[in-house]
Amino acid sequence: MTTAEKVTQSPPELLTDVDSLRRRVAQARRAGLTVGLVPTMGALHAGHVSLVEAAARECRLTIVTIFVNPTQFGPNEDFGRYPRTLEADLAALAGRGADLVFAPATEVMYPPSHVTYVEMGGPALGLEGACRPGHFRGVATIVLKLFNLVQPDRAYFGRKDYQQSLVVKRLVRDFDLPIHVEVCPTMRESDGLAMSSRNRYLSAVERERALAISRSLSLARRLAGEGTREVAPIVDQMRRMLERAPVEIDYVTLADRETLEPLVRLDRPALALVAARVGATRLIDNDWID
Ligand code: PAF
Repeated sequence: MTTAEKVTQSPPELLTDVDSLRRRVAQARRAGLTVGLVPTMGALHAGHVSLVEAAARECRLTIVTIFVNPTQFGPNEDFGRYPRTLEADLAALAGRGADLVFAPATEVMYPPSHVTYVEMGGPALGLEGACRPGHFRGVATIVLKLFNLVQPDRAYFGRKDYQQSLVVKRLVRDFDLPIHVEVCPTMRESDGLAMSSRNRYLSAVERERALAISRSLSLARRLAGEGTREVAPIVDQMRRMLERAPVEIDYVTLADRETLEPLVRLDRPALALVAARVGATRLIDNDWID
């Protein structure tokens, strides 16, 4: 069966319980199919769809999970108001190559008896890990649970959550999971804003201000392209652009692409990362600095 043959226009089949999911995965395994997993929290946009399409190109069974994971939200974060749009998500996946959607209730993933969590050091410690204590504990725990349930050959994540992709790669390595982690490019709106489920929180005025985030990354690329090698003046100019917008900066940094260690000079493969609040909405973005 080619990808073209398996893509139908109808929405993928919806499963909500673990037994049905395990049965479908076991059937696929018996038939020797490659299994691809796209973990999401729903409120799907073109960025998610691009992950699903990548999975469908490379795998014979593509499973999308939709689960707003409570353990990765801090007490004052947006868990309560995070958009839950299952019907629209299923419609958005029609014809995109997803075979199954697993959308469990909270109690399915975290019954009251659940007490085991993944605590991670290394890539989970700085940046998002520092601003959102407990966030990567929740991410690593749910991703490990989803990996165990689906046992995918390949799993797809977006580069917008770059630190998360490093966390997942390290989880796979440290727990010896036979899973290939694929990190796909960030999808952007035509004006440069990185696609995010949280963009729908923005008012028109805030959306305009939020553009400073992607523009500050373009500025960093431009300055590096023009030959600036010291990081401090680049970060300085990025900060000034963000403050002018204005957005409230959580961090702006140019870091080593492998370790996320902050750089002083651009002397190795780097990326620029920004986290900022626009009104009540916290957004993150990043881009390679070559
Ligand atoms: O990136 C996300 O949407 C979430 O962090 C993930 C990987 C689905 C875990 O809940």
